[in-house]
Amino acid sequence: MNFSASPRLRVKDTSKTRLIVKNARSPWDTDLVLPSEHSQSIAVLGLGYVGCVTAACLAKLGHRVFGIDRDETKIANILAARAPFYEPGLEEVVRETVAAGRLSASVEFAPDLAEADIALVCVGTPSARNGNLSVEQLERVLGEIRSCLAGRKRPLTLAIRSTVFPGTTEELTGAMLAESPLLSVVSNPEFLREGVAIADFMEPSLVVVGGPDARAVRAVADIYAPLGVAPCLVSLRTAEMIKYCCNAFHALKIAFANEVGTLASHLSVSPREVMETLCRDERLNVSPAYLKPGFAFGGSCLPKDLRALTYRAMHMDLSLPLLESVLPSNQRHLERAVQQVLDAPGGRIGVFGLAFKEDTDDLRESPVVAAIEQWVGKGKEVRIYDPHIRLDKIYGSNRNFILNALPHIGRLLTSDFDEVLAWCDCLAVTQKPGPEAAARIASSGKTIVNLAGAKLKPEAPAGVGGACFSLPVSPNPPKK
Ligand SMILES: NC(=O)c1ccc[n+]([C@@H]2O[C@H](COP(=O)([O-])OP(=O)(O)OC[C@H]3O[C@@H](n4cnc5c(N)ncnc54)[C@H](O)[C@@H]3O)[C@@H](O)[C@H]2O)c1
Repeated sequence: MNFSASPRLRVKDTSKTRLIVKNARSPWDTDLVLPSEHSQSIAVLGLGYVGCVTAACLAKLGHRVFGIDRDETKIANILAARAPFYEPGLEEVVRETVAAGRLSASVEFAPDLAEADIALVCVGTPSARNGNLSVEQLERVLGEIRSCLAGRKRPLTLAIRSTVFPGTTEELTGAMLAESPLLSVVSNPEFLREGVAIADFMEPSLVVVGGPDARAVRAVADIYAPLGVAPCLVSLRTAEMIKYCCNAFHALKIAFANEVGTLASHLSVSPREVMETLCRDERLNVSPAYLKPGFAFGGSCLPKDLRALTYRAMHMDLSLPLLESVLPSNQRHLERAVQQVLDAPGGRIGVFGLAFKEDTDDLRESPVVAAIEQWVGKGKEVRIYDPHIRLDKIYGSNRNFILNALPHIGRLLTSDFDEVLAWCDCLAVTQKPGPEAAARIASSGKTIVNLAGAKLKPEAPAGVGGACFSLPVSPNPPKK
């Protein structure tokens, strides 16, 4: 859906949840919304950039929204049907939803919270002096909520939309949960961008809800059902962490583009042309490729080319700290892997995979070779299996590399995986095995150090609190 191309908001039409669009002037200029039996009573706590946009847009979708903030000026603005700060389109949505009686605002917690089934916490989590996040605003709001819970008869689902470090929600709400059996807590991070916040809310790139209580997770996911986006239902900590990862990734992308652009400029190459061309590859570059946590990278190209690039930049007096940090980062990752295996019980290490990745016999700059050197150096016995490597079949620079790095490789390498599995105390999985080998590894009863992040057995059935999975949009938001 392209907002700028069409003034009409087209949202997936499910049987019960439907946006009705009437001659819209702006993309979010829609008339109702959810049939009243599917609208929820929602308190939004903290009416800053995230909270006010969330409150106004949820009201726009048809929910009854009670905004709460300690800032009286913000409240007065909303009650006067004005946006409390500049955000394109917000004023119109506030005006419309206040006039429709679906958005109200107050500095008082108790009366509005009493009306709500769901409370979305959107207070700030600014940087503390030491760089850590400050959860002071969050603690205060949770204190206010706790004081409103006494005597409450109906359940309340509390969703933390503020950006918090993994574990914070459990830590801050643990005591409250024990005291209030009617309270459920989920994490529901926000991904909107200032300046396009209304469009981002109405057409979200990602909807994430995580928590241990499936009913509460579903209830919060359902408030976004009219947007027609399948929510990712994940564990509580994944939901908290994903927000940090997204922002770190965005920052990393900008820094990467800027360093590449700087280098390109010094080489009289057009930075724009380079990056636009890079983005044309949606299979390997702008895609999930290479975004799976696993073993260190290696092989005959990535280390060599990064070395050459940073060497040449250095000789042009160019400081490119991001690109310069990639090989050291890879080395640290390898060292952690080496230590993980050294820490495993037993002296006999089996290794599944010698090449730098599966389905190749190229051993040049394989990080596995470097790891084996360390394990042997620390007195461990090692036996290696790689489905594609037979010493008598490799030659040239490949053969020279391995004989130079591990002169006794002939004594370590075997073509019989069962022999390695039966012999070892601990198996280091450094490559993704095929399904048959994966099953044998999983059922071997040996200590497995899964360095490749391989799937060794079928994932546990999708469930809240388990692996990340995503559900289609619920056609039937729960009735009140
Ligand atoms: N701004 C963004 O673009 C953006 C995007 C995604 C996520 N986030 C995250 O969302 C959270 C909120 O960000 P923001 O930019 O909206 O913050 P903000 O500072 O603009 O708004 C926070 C609001 O909470 C209110 N508040 C604080 N303590 C309160 C209390 N005890 N009782 C009632 N109200 C209280 C403040 O008065 C303020 O209006 C942060 O964790 C932020 O990291 C921000």
